[in-house]
Amino acid sequence: MENHISNNKNIKKIRVCCSGSCCGFGAEKIMDEIEDSLYNDKIKGIEEEIDLDYCGCRGFCAHSPVVEIDDDRYVFDSRPETIVEEIKKGGEDMSGQMFVVERNGDFIYKLDGDFLEDI
Ligand code: FES
Repeated sequence: MENHISNNKNIKKIRVCCSGSCCGFGAEKIMDEIEDSLYNDKIKGIEEEIDLDYCGCRGFCAHSPVVEIDDDRYVFDSRPETIVEEIKKGGEDMSGQMFVVERNGDFIYKLDGDFLEDI
């Protein structure tokens, strides 16, 4: 997979969760569709450059596959047929509803109110 990394402050960061549940529900097909859209300019208009990569579990496994946009917006239950349009819409704003903890050097994102023991 090609990674679109830039130091541009206006960068749009997209992360496709590739942990257990999201992987099982088609995260690779979601990534393929996003990559294809980047190469074919279908996604143009969001930002000039996009930092695209896989990521670990974000704590929304019940809504797999999950796509994270700029750290605090999410597309849940994503599907290859609709993911590009959902990204263009900006995803669901989850800022203020999550907290981040670090465990064994990994950052773990979890909804407020959920128990850390569950992750
Ligand atoms: S496995 Fe993707 S959010 Fe948990």
